Amino acid sequence: MADSKEVIVSVKDKIALITINAPKRLNALNRKIIKELHQCLYDLKYDANVRVVVITGAGEKAFVAGADIKEFASFSRKQGKELAQSGHDLLFNKIANYSKPVIAAVNGFALGGGLELAMACHMRVATTNAKLGQPEVSLGLIPGYGGTQRLTQLIGKGKAFEMILTGDMITAEEGLKLGLLNYVVAQEELLPKAFEIANKTIKNSPEALRKSIKAINGVFGNIGLQNEVELFGQCFGTSEFKEGTQAFLEKRKPNFD
Ligand code: CAA
Repeated sequence: MADSKEVIVSVKDKIALITINAPKRLNALNRKIIKELHQCLYDLKYDANVRVVVITGAGEKAFVAGADIKEFASFSRKQGKELAQSGHDLLFNKIANYSKPVIAAVNGFALGGGLELAMACHMRVATTNAKLGQPEVSLGLIPGYGGTQRLTQLIGKGKAFEMILTGDMITAEEGLKLGLLNYVVAQEELLPKAFEIANKTIKNSPEALRKSIKAINGVFGNIGLQNEVELFGQCFGTSEFKEGTQAFLEKRKPNFD
């Protein structure tokens, strides 16, 4: 089983807990973490002792603050498109179509690729301090790991437009009202609540769970996701992308005038 400093896995009572462990950069997803998560999920899929997977982030500040901006700031269009495509292939679509229930335990900021990771999961529990958002437009980007599709599916077009076009973060309470979150609890209740839901699924037929996930996902096509990958890649060729990412790295506001 892949088990390194940045992705920690533990299994107890048929529940696997995956912790993304890079709190210094708010658990931002780089290629290494995505590959490790992919490997963990692959291993857990074939582990008969595991019936449900819970994904969380280390620390009390962030679940995942997005894709690692430092890693992709100098990418070309081609590399940008590959970043999105490989993210879908290795992780995001793998989770969405996983054969066992996957629950996100959102322990703080879930932004950009972090919110997209939570949305790829089948259910989401968050702490009261969690903040959710798709801030990519402030970087000269669009959401690239399924956000334009999964956010719209979860909360509807009007609110998805508002979140993506303003880039504003919303509170956990607002996320709950919108149906983006299933439950909001205090920090110390996060894993107990996620495990409570996990245990409710464990008593059911694994094959029926697998088929339920497949049937629910059958409603949504892949054309929208593919379109998002293309458009995400196109962003990398623009001067606005350079300005947006440089501004983040220099800790200043971007100037798109
Ligand atoms: N990528 C790389 N590093 C990140 C990061 C990210 N997405 N988010 C935070 N960090 C790093 C910061 O650079 C900082 O590192 P240093 O200490 O080396 O300077 C460290 O984590 C702590 O962050 P802050 O000092 O910024 O903490 P804060 O409390 O002042 O702000 C925050 C917290 C509002 C979450 C802020 O960090 C932030 O805005 N992060 C970026 C959020 C974002 O834009 N996410 C989308 C990324 S693009 C994406 O995900 C594309 C996609 O869909 C595929």
